[in-house]
Amino acid sequence: AKRTAQGVQNLSFAEIPHGLDFKHHLPDGYSADLLLRWGDSLDAFAGAFSPDTLDAGEQSRRFGYNNDFLAFMPLDPDAAPGEGNRHHLSNNSNRGLLCVNHEYTQPHLMFSGYTEASSNRGTSHAHIAVEQQACGHSIVEIEHTVEGWQAVLGSPYNRRISLTTEMAIVGDAAGDQRLQTSEDPTGKKVLGTVGNCAGGKTPWGTVLIAEEGFGGAFQGDPDNVADEVEARNHHAFGIEPENRNWGDYDRRFDITVEPNEPNRFGWMVEFDPYDPKSTPRKLTGLGRFEHEGFTVVSKPNAPVVAYGGDDDEHQFVYRFVSKKNYLPRNNAHNRDLLTEGTLYAGQFREGGGGTWLPLIFGRGPLTPQNGFRNQADVLIDCRRAAKLVGATPMDRPEDVETNPVNDCTYVMLTKNKKRKAGQENAANPRARNTTGHVLEIVPPGRNGQRDHTSDTFRWNTFLLGGNPNAEEPAERGAYGQQPGNISPHGWFANPDNVAFDATGNMWIATDGCEDFGFHDGLWAMATEGELRAAPKHFFGCPEGAEICGPEFTPDGKTLFVAVQHPADVDNSTFDNPRHRWPDNDPGLPPRPSVLAIRRDDGGTIGS
Ligand code: FEO
Ligand code: CA
Ligand code: CA
Ligand code: CA
Repeated sequence: AKRTAQGVQNLSFAEIPHGLDFKHHLPDGYSADLLLRWGDSLDAFAGAFSPDTLDAGEQSRRFGYNNDFLAFMPLDPDAAPGEGNRHHLSNNSNRGLLCVNHEYTQPHLMFSGYTEASSNRGTSHAHIAVEQQACGHSIVEIEHTVEGWQAVLGSPYNRRISLTTEMAIVGDAAGDQRLQTSEDPTGKKVLGTVGNCAGGKTPWGTVLIAEEGFGGAFQGDPDNVADEVEARNHHAFGIEPENRNWGDYDRRFDITVEPNEPNRFGWMVEFDPYDPKSTPRKLTGLGRFEHEGFTVVSKPNAPVVAYGGDDDEHQFVYRFVSKKNYLPRNNAHNRDLLTEGTLYAGQFREGGGGTWLPLIFGRGPLTPQNGFRNQADVLIDCRRAAKLVGATPMDRPEDVETNPVNDCTYVMLTKNKKRKAGQENAANPRARNTTGHVLEIVPPGRNGQRDHTSDTFRWNTFLLGGNPNAEEPAERGAYGQQPGNISPHGWFANPDNVAFDATGNMWIATDGCEDFGFHDGLWAMATEGELRAAPKHFFGCPEGAEICGPEFTPDGKTLFVAVQHPADVDNSTFDNPRHRWPDNDPGLPPRPSVLAIRRDDGGTIGS
């Protein structure tokens, strides 16, 4: 049959098979440049990476560990450094800034002498100092030349953001007593960011990065913290005596010394990659939880809308609506749009109706009777607020992103093994959901003109992850409109990140397929037409890795992907790794790395 539906004709690549080995895999006719690896120098003088001599000073000038979110921010060839506005309005696809999250560190794979068990409580002070420089974010100028994609060493834009980078705290919770510490009595200034998972880009040329699993950076027993409210709060984010021992050397990571320091993490962070001296800002208006990311939808002269998720079992999907309107090209105005507005949590009802429920102090149950003193409490204890107003507990919301073609918003729900029988709801229909699913949010209005500021929406189940032929109903996948419209390699589990190409095709990155016997990777599919939600397998990771990013250049001819934690399997260590991707050099450990994928004939990816 002739496939004429939108998005279908241009997914004609030769699908790769499910598999599992020590390599990465692409369809015939595609190649990948190895663009950035953990430890690669960002300046012209640092030389080659040597794991034996790596110290904190060296790591602060080098690409960080466990690359996750990727944003390609174009550089205008005719604009000078500092002309941020001109740069970000460019759609140059051959030169830009690659902005990369470094989610977390793994001492047993980074340093000699650790086992997985010993690396939690026994990491040395020197190694912790390296780790604190290896997480955070990298901004790297990259260019496409006849030799392929490469980093521009020594570019004035190149920058590392780490756990020692000074940041401002802005929005309704800034300065609140629960954000004050002995080092910062103002509650408006914090050092660094951690747990940087996914993120987003704004139309005014800034980048948003999420603070997700920050609890693991803090040690101490919440029950030894005098304040009951903070004890409950710290428990909710997994702060335990068994966590990493950073607090032994850096006291702010010990909650028995600085009980408020964790309240200064768990936010979205916004920064300007075009101004290497700019101070990143933690945006308290977007709430505090285990942020996967936030992505922005904007229409001229209307409020800007941002969608995000809290990646934990039974947590919620959120939407932020700015108070002021987005004014194209007026960046002095737009820069503050995410500092003022209203945060909402999503309610997904039986029958496909949905409502965004506002999280406003004094409204409904968000009152002193329920322990909220002010809006700062609503934002700091956002999870509790969302639960009280009646938001729907979800199966670990990961990336939430809007399709630029059909203007619908898609929610990746990665899995939820903790959902018990009887706890199912219409939008999370499976008890013990091991494979995850994808929801489609349809705001009112026609394609391309939907009203994302509306407090009501419709929603659909877009697909259910898992093998469509699985015996176990809770693991059985459902794709597209007709059974059998995908190949044996078209199914996947555990959707995590998502990106859309210019024709509205969805590209899903997974985290967890090895539980089903094959590598994590990328699957691409149409969102409309006959082959809606019928995936094709495009990329496969080396064993032990999950895949993050993905990110297209504006021309759709390059696709960047981040291969995170390669060789991260049981008993794999620096000294005895499962494999040594991507270098395969006996002198080098496995290294998380970013690949730049191109079609050998220079054509559009996927078509
Ligand atoms: Fe860091 Fe939610 O994945
Ligand atoms: Ca993720
Ligand atoms: Ca994404
Ligand atoms: Ca994940």
